[in-house]
Amino acid sequence: MELHPLIANRRSPRAFDPDAALAPDVLEALFEAARWAASHGNTQPARFVVGLRGDDTFQRVFDVLRPGNQTWAVRASALVLAARATTDDRGPIPNTEFGLGLAVQNLVLQAEHLGLITHQMGGFDHDAAARAFGLPADVVPVVVVAVGVPGDVGLLPPDLQAREHAPRVRKPLSETVFTGAWGNPLLPES
Ligand SMILES: Cc1cc2nc3c(=O)[nH]c(=O)nc-3n(C[C@H](O)[C@H](O)[C@H](O)COP(=O)(O)O)c2cc1C
Repeated sequence: MELHPLIANRRSPRAFDPDAALAPDVLEALFEAARWAASHGNTQPARFVVGLRGDDTFQRVFDVLRPGNQTWAVRASALVLAARATTDDRGPIPNTEFGLGLAVQNLVLQAEHLGLITHQMGGFDHDAAARAFGLPADVVPVVVVAVGVPGDVGLLPPDLQAREHAPRVRKPLSETVFTGAWGNPLLPES
């Protein structure tokens, strides 16, 4: 059965258009999508710090990225530091990383729907990111999401150019979806 095109077509490219900017209504749609994600007891742990290329926030998020990510993320239209709030007025929030993940996936799929590309990065200095923006002790950075417009693959270093159009690969469902007993596949082959 056919997958939804937003899921089938999403990938994590590195070729961003260095001249593209995101309009305010686009930014609103991205974070509105994130806002409507499910979360444990509707605790809504997702928090975001957003830099737009050319502004000071973008530069400070960029500065904490690993050098390998900086080579291409420099051309993104936005760098979004995604963090999880671990407590609220009722105490510790359960499943905060899960909740943030759902919110980020909503953002990513909304971006795909708008013709944008996204690339999530765990490769950054988490402590430096927390310091750079004065995150409270109970707010933990998790990923930076580069968001932008598809650009010229030729602007990437040769090794990254090859990866841009490489086939996406996944484990077969027979290795990950079981029934009856662990390791017994629900579905024959995928
Ligand atoms: C939590 C997380 C952290 C990631 N960190 C990085 C990273 O630091 N640098 C990078 O180039 N890609 C990073 N990626 C992208 C993954 O490598 C990519 O999603 C994976 O290879 C699957 O490819 P696809 O998204 O194109 O389907 C990360 C993705 C996730 C979800």
